[in-house]
Amino acid sequence: MTRDFIAAADLPLLEAAGLADFDALWRMELDAVEHPNTERGGWSSVCRFELPEQGYFLKRQSSHLTRSLAHPFGEPTFAREFRNIRRYAERQVPALSAAFFGMRKVADEQRAILLTRALSGWRDLASWLAGWPRCPPEQRAQLIDAAALLARRLHAARLTHCCLYPRHIFVRAQEKDFAACLIDLEKSRPLHFRRERIRDLEQFLRYAPQLSDAEIDRFLARYLAASAGSPVIACWRQWLAKRQQKKGATPRIPSFVDAGHQDGDDQHHYPGQIEPEQKNG
Ligand SMILES: Nc1ncnc2c1ncn2[C@@H]1O[C@H](COP(=O)(O)OP(=O)(O)O)[C@@H](O)[C@H]1O
Ligand SMILES: [Mg+2]
Repeated sequence: MTRDFIAAADLPLLEAAGLADFDALWRMELDAVEHPNTERGGWSSVCRFELPEQGYFLKRQSSHLTRSLAHPFGEPTFAREFRNIRRYAERQVPALSAAFFGMRKVADEQRAILLTRALSGWRDLASWLAGWPRCPPEQRAQLIDAAALLARRLHAARLTHCCLYPRHIFVRAQEKDFAACLIDLEKSRPLHFRRERIRDLEQFLRYAPQLSDAEIDRFLARYLAASAGSPVIACWRQWLAKRQQKKGATPRIPSFVDAGHQDGDDQHHYPGQIEPEQKNG
């Protein structure tokens, strides 16, 4: 059993509230912010609570396991999410931060807790998209840029999110633009192939139907660091449209040209490849 993790910055606050240990957090009676997840045999729930200076999201789960080669009998999905939170921090991909993580075996039950700091002052992109028609064009452009640059940074760090829905991208207005960061890192893993980049982007665009054609182009131009009208954008649109068709959705990412590239998973050079040395771009 691994030792509990408590972030140094959160320890005094949690201690003052009597919440600096697994059992105290496990016992908290709170309403769930979403329906508890019961897909994997056990259950997993998300709640929110406020301390005087900081809000927290408390994720608790019981026997909600994921199997892998390293863990053939399964490990709590939060263990994976916690590792990913640390990996994102190491690779400087903006994401939520963990305040507490712990696991306990109680008889046959495998419990886990992941406590993260609430992103106060941030708002998820899905809620921006819900009010898209009322959003001024300049602000829309800034939000698109923030999401695209975040995706670019994620992939340059050789990570795929695997759940890149607008509701998992949080944004906050800065002086001239928007900062963006990611949440729900449970499914994220190392990125090896171009198809993994396409899958993340297709997922994002499928859940952002409010974006106009020109806005999708802008998103891709920023993501690829390409200039407007560059043929590389048309090429990516075609790959995305193919992926969308595969998912059975009506393609809403029209492909304009036959870019003449095979849709293979080779690791050779291809248009729009992000070179590792560009990773902070
Ligand atoms: N640290 C956080 N800051 C702000 N909102 C959060 C945070 N953690 C979770 N949420 C909110 O709770 C929802 C569910 O959390 P998430 O991590 O996506 O759980 P699940 O793995 O069950 O999908 C998110 O969509 C988001 O709205
Ligand atoms: Mg989620």
